[in-house]
Amino acid sequence: MKLFVCWVLTSVVCLAVLRKMWSSRYLRSHLSRSLYMNMMNHNQALYWEGNHQWYLCDTEKLSEALRPMFVQSYLDHGTQTFLNRSIEKSGWLSIQLYHSFMSSVFSMFMSRTSINGLLGRGSMFVFSPEQFQRLLKIGPDWKSHRLLDLGAGDGEVTRVMSPHFEEIYVTEMSQTMIWQLQKKKYRVLNIDEWQNTGFQYDVISCLNLLDRCHQPVTLLKEMRRVLEPTRGRVILALVLPFHPYVENGGKWEKPSEAMEVNGTVWEEQVNSLADVFQNTGFVVEAVTRLPYLCEGDMYNDYYVLDDAVFVLRPV
Ligand SMILES: C[S@@+](CC[C@H](N)C(=O)[O-])C[C@H]1O[C@@H](n2cnc3c(N)ncnc32)[C@H](O)[C@@H]1O
Ligand SMILES: *[C@@H]1O[C@H](CO)[C@@H](O)[C@H](O)[C@H]1NC(C)=O
Ligand SMILES: *[C@@H]1O[C@H](CO)[C@@H](O)[C@H](O)[C@H]1NC(C)=O
Repeated sequence: MKLFVCWVLTSVVCLAVLRKMWSSRYLRSHLSRSLYMNMMNHNQALYWEGNHQWYLCDTEKLSEALRPMFVQSYLDHGTQTFLNRSIEKSGWLSIQLYHSFMSSVFSMFMSRTSINGLLGRGSMFVFSPEQFQRLLKIGPDWKSHRLLDLGAGDGEVTRVMSPHFEEIYVTEMSQTMIWQLQKKKYRVLNIDEWQNTGFQYDVISCLNLLDRCHQPVTLLKEMRRVLEPTRGRVILALVLPFHPYVENGGKWEKPSEAMEVNGTVWEEQVNSLADVFQNTGFVVEAVTRLPYLCEGDMYNDYYVLDDAVFVLRPV
């Protein structure tokens, strides 16, 4: 038994060190001063160009109603801080090794989300405080009463919005994420409780949840019902292209309720989503394109998905 554990540990370590050596960071620090200088500069250029691409939208392809609602975002200080921190963290070899080992053990019976919640890793980034304020057209001192963050994950994205609210309610499906949220002192509601509290919310955030839950259309209708009907706003993020699936333990399932999103490119799917929102009682007040960032592991500095972020007003 001891021998077996030793063997597993040694092979994990060897594998990790090998991969690490071949990662760009190794090349960056050891070879860039000589042979690879040119290649490095080239990569650096690509890197920045890539960042620019994250925010691009062909407004010609947006429907006429949406075109004036498009907000151009860019890589700001808050986003760069998250990226820097993420790059730094992925370089901590011993912690990354520990995470990698624990993940492979737990992944036999737990969802990826719950493992991240348990290990307190893989935090996400959707928008900086400045980007959030610009989308909602509010100042840094703007205050409101109640925020409801549906599918809040570990609460790191909630934290960006929290200074603007007196009471912060959250929901989560994953038990380990609920522990993280309770540790951060948010008021955790059950996933069938937030609709029936008897009060209304001033802002409801639904970030990267519609493609990960069983009943996205029902969820939209319920949000409409409990949102403050005049000044209330929904801030909604969705990864495009739209690929709905639901995590269940370590498995993936198809959602029980279909939400139809037409089109192939980002702009077409955004147009189609505006129709879905219209049918559930909302109109798009602002829309932007942002990278949905996730902290990296020992193989990557960070991960990027393509988000569409909407501000919805009830009609
Ligand atoms: C992709 S994560 C998004 C986390 C965070 N909002 C963000 O934008 O980074 C989706 C989360 O929704 C949770 N979830 C799935 N179905 C849910 C439901 N019906 N109600 C509340 N949370 C749910 C999952 O456990 C997961 O943590
Ligand atoms: C991020 O890191 C880069 C390169 O190390 C540095 O030039 C930049 O000032 C850092 N930015 C922030 C916001 O921390
Ligand atoms: C998607 O396309 C189908 C067939 O063209 C149409 O019936 C449906 O209304 C469209 N849905 C959305 C949300 O645009």
